[in-house]
Amino acid sequence: MSDHNQQILLARRPEDVPTEDIFEFRDIPINELEEEQVLVKTLYLSVDPYMRGRMNAGKSYVEPYAVNEPISGAIIGEIVESRSKELKVGDKVQGFLYWQLYNGVNASAVRKLENTSVPLSAYLSVLGMTGLTAYFGLLDIGQPKEGETVVVSAAAGAVGSIVGQIAKIKGARVVGIAGTDEKIAYLENDLGFDKGINYKTTTDLQKALEEACPDGVDIYFDNVGGTISDAVLSLLNDFARIPLCGAISSYNSKGNEDLGPRMQPKLLKTRSLIKGFIVSDYRERFDEGHQELADWLSQGKLKYEETITDGFENVPQAFLNLFTGKNLGKQLVKVSDPSNRDR
Ligand SMILES: NC(=O)c1ccc[n+]([C@@H]2O[C@H](COP(=O)([O-])OP(=O)(O)OC[C@H]3O[C@@H](n4cnc5c(N)ncnc54)[C@H](OP(=O)(O)O)[C@@H]3O)[C@@H](O)[C@H]2O)c1
Repeated sequence: MSDHNQQILLARRPEDVPTEDIFEFRDIPINELEEEQVLVKTLYLSVDPYMRGRMNAGKSYVEPYAVNEPISGAIIGEIVESRSKELKVGDKVQGFLYWQLYNGVNASAVRKLENTSVPLSAYLSVLGMTGLTAYFGLLDIGQPKEGETVVVSAAAGAVGSIVGQIAKIKGARVVGIAGTDEKIAYLENDLGFDKGINYKTTTDLQKALEEACPDGVDIYFDNVGGTISDAVLSLLNDFARIPLCGAISSYNSKGNEDLGPRMQPKLLKTRSLIKGFIVSDYRERFDEGHQELADWLSQGKLKYEETITDGFENVPQAFLNLFTGKNLGKQLVKVSDPSNRDR
């Protein structure tokens, strides 16, 4: 095992669009383990849009990152040293850990991944938080029914690509909105979406949506907010449901410049339900979601894509990719190889 450890700190809070200089790399020692602790080598690390919100100082559903402190997030790792009876060297684990090459933590801070046939990275994508977000947001709030029209934004991303496929499994007609022609081709040709709309090249998004949704919109799974959502919401049918999952179009906004139309009359007239949610609201039901996603995966009903950036030094760039749309499916970083390279 190397004795070189490194971490990534938040060097300063971004004011708008984040740049690489908000991050700083720092060399740190690997401390002796205490009893019940394990040393986790990072194999894969997840970068997520919600982390942008944690870079701001304000109060939210989760604590802001502290300046000059390491950033944390979902990580898949391998135990390389253990003083715990529960976890042994070679075990693969998952946890919310610091962006570090190695984390020395209590064994209770990580969860062992039992051997399955899926690649390890899937625990940070389709079988991880983003898969569960799609699952609970769509099924619990959206409640799709056969023949209904479902629209999803950021459709070729980690959450959106799973939302659309689950909606198809439930017999809905699915329209996805995404930002490149490659993503639209992926949605229509690989994932079975009925229609994709490139919001960056379409000259009239409203018209494109009207044509793609001739029977109106029953469910809008909102990942982006902003003008895209304004256009979709104008097409709501009576008793439409809107799982409000994210608003990435405004994450880098400084203030209130992102004002849109007043939606209350439309929501009232259509008696629509709009509900914000955070995946952790469903913590008690994670096993259920995980099981069904794994079943669909093994039955070939669900596909997933990962954009895997290589190398710890490229974590900042991978994070920035989320805001320029460079990722297809889940954006991850591969930090190191497992010692047994079977997964
Ligand atoms: N509520 C929850 O518990 C929960 C959990 C996970 C994620 N989320 C939210 O769900 C959304 C998707 O997250 P994800 O992890 O699946 O990320 P993702 O979709 O894999 O990646 C982000 C995508 O957003 C699109 N995007 C970026 N800036 C945009 C803008 N200004 N306008 C429109 N689209 C933009 C880009 O795709 P294009 O090329 O299509 O522009 C980019 O690839 C985010 O808003 C995130 O915060 C919520």
